[in-house]
Amino acid sequence: MIVRRTATRMIAVALVFITGFATAALAAEAENSGVPMPVIPAGMGDSCVEDTDFMRRNHMDMLKHQRDETTLRGVRTKQYSLVECINCHVINGSGMEAVSASDPRHFCRSCHDYAAVNIDCFQCHASRPEAEDPTAENSTGFTPTGATRTSGGR
Ligand code: HEC
Ligand code: HEC
Ligand code: HEC
Repeated sequence: MIVRRTATRMIAVALVFITGFATAALAAEAENSGVPMPVIPAGMGDSCVEDTDFMRRNHMDMLKHQRDETTLRGVRTKQYSLVECINCHVINGSGMEAVSASDPRHFCRSCHDYAAVNIDCFQCHASRPEAEDPTAENSTGFTPTGATRTSGGR
C-alpha cells in the first residue's frame, strides 16, 4: 500500500515537472518565433465594435446572435453585422483589390487557418466589401447561391 502511494506520488511529481517544462519550452519557442504565430492584420479606424480582447474571444457568439436576430426575428442592425466586419477588416492584395476568403491573407483566415477553424459563412456572405449599391441600405452581403458577381469570386 505504502509502495503504491509512493509510486503514485512520484508519477504525479514527474507529470508536474514534465508539463511545466513543456509549457516553458513552448512559450520560449513562441517568443523566439520558432513557432509561426498568426499575423493578424489591423482593422480600419481606431477600434473594433467592442474591446479587441473581447472580440478575440466572443466574435463567433456575437455573429451567431446577430444572425439569429436577423433571420429569425427580422431585426437588421448594423452594429454586429457581418457586412460591417468585412468593411472594416478589408485586406488589399496586389493591385489594391480586396482579397476574398479564398486568399489566406484574408482577415478572418489570419487566425482561423492557424487555429484550424473552418467557417462556411462565405459560401453565402461576401467576404470583401460590396461595391457601392444605392439599394445597399439594408444589405446583408447575402448573394443567392449561383448568382454572378461582377467582381468575380467571393
Ligand atoms: C446558406 C447560406 C448562408 C450561410 C452558409 C450563412 N449565412 Fe448568414 N445569412 C444568410 C441569409 C439568407 C441571411 C439573411 C439575410 C437577410 O434576411 O437580411 C443571413 C444573415 C446573417 C446575419 C445577419 C445579417 C448581418 O450581416 O447582420 C449574420 C450576422 C450572419 N448571417 C452571419 C453568418 C455567419 C457568422 C455564418 C457562418 C457561421 C453564416 N451567416 C452562414 C445566409 C447564410
Ligand atoms: C469600425 C471598424 C470595425 C468594425 C465594424 C469591426 N472591426 Fe474588428 N477591429 C477593428 C480594429 C481597428 C481592430 C484592432 C483594434 C486594436 O488593435 O486594438 C479590430 C480587432 C478585431 C479582432 C481582434 C484581432 C486581433 O488582433 O486579435 C477581431 C477578432 C475582430 N476585430 C472581429 C470583428 C468582427 C467579427 C466584426 C463584425 C461583428 C468586426 N470586427 C467589426 C475595426 C473594426
Ligand atoms: C484573433 C483571431 C481570429 C480572427 C481575426 C477571427 N477569428 Fe473567428 N475564430 C477564432 C477562433 C480561435 C475560433 C474558434 C473558437 C472556438 O472553437 O472556441 C473562431 C471561431 C469562429 C466562428 C465559429 C466557428 C464554429 O465552428 O462554430 C465563426 C463563425 C467565426 N470565428 C467567424 C469569424 C469571422 C467572420 C471573422 C472575420 C470577420 C473571424 N472569425 C476572425 C479566431 C479568430
